[in-house]
Amino acid sequence: MPESKKTKDTATESAELYHPSKEVIKAAHVKDYDKLYKESIEDREGFWAKEAKKLEWYRKWDKVLDDSNKPFYKWFTGGKTNIVQNAIDRHQKTWRRNKLAFIWEGEPGDVRTMSYHALNREVSKFANVLKSMGVRKGEIVTIYMPQIPELPIAMLACAKIGAAHSVVYGGFSVEALATRIEDANSRVLVTADGGWRRGKITDLKGIANQAIERSPTIEVCITVKRTGQEVYMENDRDFWYHDLMGLPIASAYCDTEKTDSEDMLFILYTSGTTGRPKGLVHTHGGYSVYTATTHKYVFDIKDEDRWWCAADPGWVTGHSYLVYAPLINGSTIMMYEGAPNHPYPNRWWNMIEKYGITILYTSPTAIRGLMRFGSQWPKRHNLETLRLLGSVGEPINPEAWKWYHEVIGGGRCPIMDTWWQTETGGFMITPLPITPLKPGSATKPFFGNEVGVVKEDGTDAKAGEEGKLVIKAPWPGMARTIMGDPDRFIDTYWKEYAKQGWYKAGDSARIDEDGYIWVIGRIDDVIKVSGYRLGTAEVESAMVSHADVAEAAAIAVPHELKGNAIHAYVILRTGVAGNKALAESLKEHVSKELGPIARPEVINFMESLPKTRSGKIMRRVLKARAMGVDEGDLSTLEE
Ligand code: PRX
Repeated sequence: MPESKKTKDTATESAELYHPSKEVIKAAHVKDYDKLYKESIEDREGFWAKEAKKLEWYRKWDKVLDDSNKPFYKWFTGGKTNIVQNAIDRHQKTWRRNKLAFIWEGEPGDVRTMSYHALNREVSKFANVLKSMGVRKGEIVTIYMPQIPELPIAMLACAKIGAAHSVVYGGFSVEALATRIEDANSRVLVTADGGWRRGKITDLKGIANQAIERSPTIEVCITVKRTGQEVYMENDRDFWYHDLMGLPIASAYCDTEKTDSEDMLFILYTSGTTGRPKGLVHTHGGYSVYTATTHKYVFDIKDEDRWWCAADPGWVTGHSYLVYAPLINGSTIMMYEGAPNHPYPNRWWNMIEKYGITILYTSPTAIRGLMRFGSQWPKRHNLETLRLLGSVGEPINPEAWKWYHEVIGGGRCPIMDTWWQTETGGFMITPLPITPLKPGSATKPFFGNEVGVVKEDGTDAKAGEEGKLVIKAPWPGMARTIMGDPDRFIDTYWKEYAKQGWYKAGDSARIDEDGYIWVIGRIDDVIKVSGYRLGTAEVESAMVSHADVAEAAAIAVPHELKGNAIHAYVILRTGVAGNKALAESLKEHVSKELGPIARPEVINFMESLPKTRSGKIMRRVLKARAMGVDEGDLSTLEE
């Protein structure tokens, strides 16, 4: 297999600055970041209006930005569009109708491909099925599926008829699914019998059944047959997807609902500082414009690309950059069901070669996990089709960055380290292909975004000084609210810098002398495990739901592969003795309630927990002890 080789004017490292090659610069959509950035700040609405005009609208907007009710900003008000109009419908009128929309590979090796024409038919059929189940505009359908093509099809079918979707990550368990179904008041659940992961079958339908028992709102459950394992189906409640898709009602013709710009497209739950997950609301208009624009400029999207975003659609990365943005941009999308190292650690590299992938977008955790197996695995494959790489979810450590750049990218592919959040809808801080890179820095703000790193009092942190990351002006992809809890939306993001009207991201960061932004990590009680977001409170409430536990605290401790691992501190009920078997059973319990990603790495049995006089657990003290560093100011500690 030929090895990826460096070209003559490839990225050169000078003082840790990696310059893009002439080829990359020549191909890039944007050639002058500074100029366009300046223009986009001086006339933000003008910039976004220009980008919005590149999409189709049933009716043009009256106002680009409506800021009459801050922080509940609205974008493109008066406009009518449906994200499906741009993601599917408009491609039917061009040659892209025959272009591949999806290349999908299942973990056992089965392959499915779908053109934009076929995608339109499948989505229309399932949209008609949903309609026949009485799904109406504004209703929220919960989707709980493995990474199979029916997942994006179900999302798009909801959007097409103006219903909203709430996708719950297929790795989540009973408790997480049940609370999300309940919060969304979902009547319809779409799931699968199971999926493939590391050669094993997941029990999705079994978990779904248990969740339905806990959440009385579900009337209809539609199940895709993926693995063929035996599952329990209840009369009048459970239907097989393939049965419904075979009925005359599932016609391949369905009008796309002419939704308003601000109509809800989806809610996506994410972890915050209290136990209850937050359902963030995203809407059709602004989200379409923001995701499509960021995707196109940051990854320099061309018609000949084969785009692989290796995230699960159950997370925001999958929503924005596996499903919606690439479809709007008419890309061919790679999607893979299973584990990166199954059956061997060359699985991903093999698929890149086999399908001729040109852009790979993944997480530092995935990179570190594959790096561990050694360079001989990617070196067995020809990865020369790759021209750009991406990273998301947590800071990427320079060692992983360099391996990704050298071994996977052959030294010629710039790495787009994109900082953003479920709340932001799309990339906020990111390089462009033309940006000189510093490993570990997400570099500069995307167009239209004013980003600051500030101290408690709101003044700018000095160059190199750590501070809180804030966003100083609205952007079209921003979440509109937390479903059912607008006060929490204000409290969480807008209260601290209400005077200035800034959005608080919940991360700490530094800006260096060159204006490069370095994101350090969360400053609230959110833990990032393998790039997945969990709340300490969620883990703690799962722990105390165990019969033997009286009180629990969870913290994040740095971990070589996962970025962070969960360490739990537990006070047992009187009379219960802590031992190894109980620690295992507690780990198992959390894993069953929340999902395997929430499984604590370490359980410590305690007599008491460090608390403030007002009774708040001082997680910072636990963390300092776990890491063997100074515990800092203990004056508020009760005893
Ligand atoms: O801490 C930041 C981290 O992920 C958080 C957002 O998590 P979530 O809503 O799950 O969205 C993840 C995918 C967009 C942020 O507050 N984060 C995300 N991207 C980066 C990052 N930290 C450093 N560098 C990044 N590129």
